[in-house]
Amino acid sequence: MVYVHTSVLAEETLKYLVPQKDHPLMIDCTLGEGGHSKLFLEKYPFLNVIGLDRDENIIGKARNRLKPYSDRFTAVNTWFDEYLDSYIGESPSVILFDLGISIFHYAESERGFSFSKREPLDMRLNVSKDISAADIVNTYSEQQIADIIYKYGEERYSRRIARAICERREVQSITKSDDLASIIYSAVPQQYRHQRIHPATRSFQALRIAVNGELDRIEPAVNKAIDILAPGGLIGVISFHSLEDRPVKYLFRERAKDCICPPKAPICTCGHVADITIVTKKPVVATEQECKENPPSRSAKLRVAMKKES
Ligand SMILES: C[S@@+](CC[C@H](N)C(=O)[O-])C[C@H]1O[C@@H](n2cnc3c(N)ncnc32)[C@H](O)[C@@H]1O
Repeated sequence: MVYVHTSVLAEETLKYLVPQKDHPLMIDCTLGEGGHSKLFLEKYPFLNVIGLDRDENIIGKARNRLKPYSDRFTAVNTWFDEYLDSYIGESPSVILFDLGISIFHYAESERGFSFSKREPLDMRLNVSKDISAADIVNTYSEQQIADIIYKYGEERYSRRIARAICERREVQSITKSDDLASIIYSAVPQQYRHQRIHPATRSFQALRIAVNGELDRIEPAVNKAIDILAPGGLIGVISFHSLEDRPVKYLFRERAKDCICPPKAPICTCGHVADITIVTKKPVVATEQECKENPPSRSAKLRVAMKKES
């Protein structure tokens, strides 16, 4: 079976992120299978799109899907923070982030993102280097594993899970996703095993985030994206959990303020000048209909800001 990722908040993204003819460039920082990029290329015949993704395999899928637009579309295999940090091209009028991973990663990548499959415990987007999830569970200290699961998974049983992982690896290395899932299942209390989500969900999320350094990349990338936006340009960030959403919310707030001195400071000494206006005072969420049709959209939040004309 071939799965196609359904782009979340598609209508809302198109509604809020309107490109300018004078700055006919969009950077799609999380290309995935190219769903959002396709919508923009279809709707705006004047628009060029640069699509970024660290996963070479999914870029192949996007290139195929976007063949009809190949004269206006360029894909780059890169981490978005690294690309934006060294960006020197024309100013885009739209920049989009749709954080996290795609249905492709769970369903087809065979890299152990899903706890319900028997696959190598890898979880790397960049398979050519970096450490894998198996490296973490088999070589990190119990304390380090517990910290990762707590910090990036907000898992209350992080310590018990880390202890169980370390006990098991004494006997045998943990190399398969379903083996890790059953270790986690056995480590948590009985009543925790029958919640709305599988007891391994948070730990798997945490390992994926740690393997790919996902959270550390968001703030620098969003900051840099704002820097390179054309005047009046729009940035949209779609997040799926509070660990992704929080830094974006605070970063937008800070850049939309004229003064960032501590509240008790008698006079302003920071000299900070707001360079964005927040467009979505509250994050945009999916309609009931979309949540029914595409369950991952239930947790999606879209925040949009506009670069001020200087
Ligand atoms: C949710 S999917 C994007 C789906 C896409 N918007 C669509 O509609 O088809 C996120 C994609 O971003 C990529 N990704 C995640 N973090 C990244 C990063 N820091 N740099 C580059 N690519 C990243 C993942 O490999 C994944 O393919």
